Amino acid sequence: MIPGVHKYVDIGVGPMHRGKRKSSEVNPALLDKMGERLTFEQISVGLYDALSRKRQNVLARDCPLETIERFRQEELDHLGLLERSLRHLGRSPAASCASAYLAAQASLGLQKLVQNSETSFGDSLEAMVIAAATDNLGWELLISLALQAGLDDMAWEFCGALREEQIQLSTLRSWVEDLALHEKIIPPEYGERSA
Ligand SMILES: [Fe+2]
Repeated sequence: MIPGVHKYVDIGVGPMHRGKRKSSEVNPALLDKMGERLTFEQISVGLYDALSRKRQNVLARDCPLETIERFRQEELDHLGLLERSLRHLGRSPAASCASAYLAAQASLGLQKLVQNSETSFGDSLEAMVIAAATDNLGWELLISLALQAGLDDMAWEFCGALREEQIQLSTLRSWVEDLALHEKIIPPEYGERSA
């Protein structure tokens, strides 16, 4: 069991059917934070795209491109989960909300850093750790809000997203640590171009 997930499972969250709720019946904070997460997941897909491009220009065998692409797909899946969940609550995924705007503003620096061709793959990984940590906290809050609303099915699905976010964070952190300790990244002019 991944740390942090068990507390939600232990209290009895599991697949069970609950009727469709109207958005007016749930805590507005849940809808606001779902909108925030949706925006951030969209941004995360773009961050992983940029990281993937950068990874192709360095030799860093311990940071497989396939893993980065898997993480990117997970972010896309999380985006789809949020879109479905918002529709389930009668809310358009395209609806704007205050926290989504703030998340977009707060992530501008991360996007600028990762998408900048002048910054290194290692620098970009550090930015991705910040993004992944933010995502972890965001999903934990969403699980609590969904449980508070009695949306057990939804909370269970959010636990699945949190598990993936936890693995992303621990993997990215281990890459940053490994690269810092061993200086394993070799720029293309000093090594072979990676596959
Ligand atoms: Fe995410």
